[in-house]
Amino acid sequence: MGKIKRQKAVVLASGRGSNFEALVRAEKAGVISPFEIIGLISNQPDSGARELARNFCIPEVLVNSQPFKSPRGFDRSHYESELLKCLTALKPDWIFLAGYMLVLGPEIIAAFPKRILNIHPSLLPKHRGLRAQKQAIDAGDRIAGCSVHYVTEELDGGPIVLQKSLEILPDDTEETLSKRLLPLEHETYIEALQQIAKELN
Ligand code: GAR
Repeated sequence: MGKIKRQKAVVLASGRGSNFEALVRAEKAGVISPFEIIGLISNQPDSGARELARNFCIPEVLVNSQPFKSPRGFDRSHYESELLKCLTALKPDWIFLAGYMLVLGPEIIAAFPKRILNIHPSLLPKHRGLRAQKQAIDAGDRIAGCSVHYVTEELDGGPIVLQKSLEILPDDTEETLSKRLLPLEHETYIEALQQIAKELN
């Protein structure tokens, strides 16, 4: 078995950043080798993930999506060309979406074929899109879960790498379910990367 070339990854995150943190800690602990997190890009100025990146001394870039929003809607193509410029400069082998709350456009997806992963808080193909945990509760599901999948042009529709499930308790709310699901998301993302690393071998 030959030595696998290091796989440079950039994480895209919009919010709190707990999945980003879990990935960074896993990388530092040497459990997701050969992946190396070389940077964070966030679209939100006040994202917790940015602060985490600074604390971990990981280069972070803000590509603020706010100025691209107007009463006429979101100028996705201009925002995405800024994002693509930034990604092209960082030259990652992989892009990990970790609570990135914008849909990635076709140009970026085409620039990194089968090299973009996402974590979604549902057992896909169930409950795509926003507030997946609420969707599961509203649907009366007994089981919830999370999925790590490749990103394609179909929203939350790409090939699944790994899923894990957990029981929905009778008194679960969107908040309690989301909170219980989070550690499982972290575990699933790490195991999914370990699985991909084996396939790269
Ligand atoms: C996570 O629950 C993640 O699965 C979800 O946002 C949260 C981000 O938390 N992502 C999506 O819903 C994407 N469609 P984090 O910022 O603490 O990682």
